[in-house]
Amino acid sequence: MTARGWSPESWRSVPIRQVPEYPDQAALAAMEAKIARFPPLVFAGEARRLKASLARAGDGQAFVLQGGDCAESFGDFTANVIRDTFRVLLQMAVVLTFGGALPVVKLGRMAGQFAKPRSSDHETRDGVTLPSYRGDIINGPDFDAPSRIPDPSRMEFAYMQSAGTLNLLRAFATGGYADLHQVHRWNLGFVERSPLAERYADLATRIDQTLSFMQACGMSDLPQVRETDFYTSHESLLLPYEQAMTRVDSTSGDWYACSAHFLWIGDRTRQPEGAHVEFLRGVKNPIGMKVGPSMDADELVRLTEILNPSNEKGRLTLISRMGADKVEAKLAPLVRAVTRAGRNVVWICDPMHGNTTTVAGYKTRPFDAIISEVRGFFDVHEAEGSFAGGVHVEMTGSDVTECLGGAHKLSETDLSANYATSCDPRLNAEQSLELAFLIAEELKARRVAGLTAPAQAAQ
Ligand code: PEP
Ligand code: CO
Repeated sequence: MTARGWSPESWRSVPIRQVPEYPDQAALAAMEAKIARFPPLVFAGEARRLKASLARAGDGQAFVLQGGDCAESFGDFTANVIRDTFRVLLQMAVVLTFGGALPVVKLGRMAGQFAKPRSSDHETRDGVTLPSYRGDIINGPDFDAPSRIPDPSRMEFAYMQSAGTLNLLRAFATGGYADLHQVHRWNLGFVERSPLAERYADLATRIDQTLSFMQACGMSDLPQVRETDFYTSHESLLLPYEQAMTRVDSTSGDWYACSAHFLWIGDRTRQPEGAHVEFLRGVKNPIGMKVGPSMDADELVRLTEILNPSNEKGRLTLISRMGADKVEAKLAPLVRAVTRAGRNVVWICDPMHGNTTTVAGYKTRPFDAIISEVRGFFDVHEAEGSFAGGVHVEMTGSDVTECLGGAHKLSETDLSANYATSCDPRLNAEQSLELAFLIAEELKARRVAGLTAPAQAAQ
């Protein structure tokens, strides 16, 4: 059933933020019409399956791992980049599954994460002011006037790149690469030289032993061992594109956003009366919303009612991003209000966006602050009697030097060695794996203390 007063274009008649100024409106309209004829990238049945998995995470019976680039880039569209990020996500997922004894819901910030909200419409360098870079689906990152003009034809390339990325991810997920028998081979060269190598090798050996045991018991060909479920997600920011990718599912008659399985609303566009909330309230996908330190408890409860009026489990994921120093004070009252109102949500922690600083001219994030926010998030949920349902990180499988600290103690002077992000600083492969081990310890401690719901059959 279509939400009351909603249509795929109803967002156009309410206030909107973060809108690119396309100089050629006729070209924009023509591109929207063109993309509206393209095949959907995902299918409604997949989105429903993800929603069911997220519902389990909301009940403490699964853990969500959402990760990928801050912004995907047209220049970085290669098989190796996709494979390396995918494989670090797989490594993180096995570490978490083992530690938490919980199924891990794997959600890439991939195959469509192109549009970026900006704190300012303009950027000034050496006395020259130009429109801000808003992500490759809108304009170009180079600091020259032609690059920064919003260009609708970029939507078509973004669609094609999303399709190519998703195709490879589907092949990896189901074609043998994600087979748990490959767990040793997922290690990247530079992780092998890391202090974490031994821990990972030890875990991989234990998984091998478990698989041999299962084989001996005649359970060798389970699909859960041979393949994995992997879903895509991105911020639902560029609404002309999202509308063009919204389709009616023929089996249910419901509207689905078909650019990705899961879309979220950013912290800058979550106004209850705003266009981004209006758009997502009417599609049936599982959706997310960032919850930053300026969120008010009553407003949050109201947003959960607008976005999930039937209080369906798995429909709404709240992605907390407070900052390490604020998480205890800001998150606890919000969790309490949502619980008290009886709203079903999945709480996950984005420990990246509240911990950004500038060091030596580079936008960076200290690994210690990231860890500290995750721990604070777990502590708040423990104190409030709710479930810490997952994490949301900006990471890459490449050996970048964008976040400070971690096992290799990346310092200020190391940042310039391989600082490659087209937007925010990402954890590199080694830092991502280290984070997964630390979270696995938290999950294990809570499991031992009886604070998580017992796991049901792995998916
Ligand atoms: C992001 O996830 O890249 C982002 C912009 O986050 P937020 O909306 O939380 O600032
Ligand atoms: Co970001």
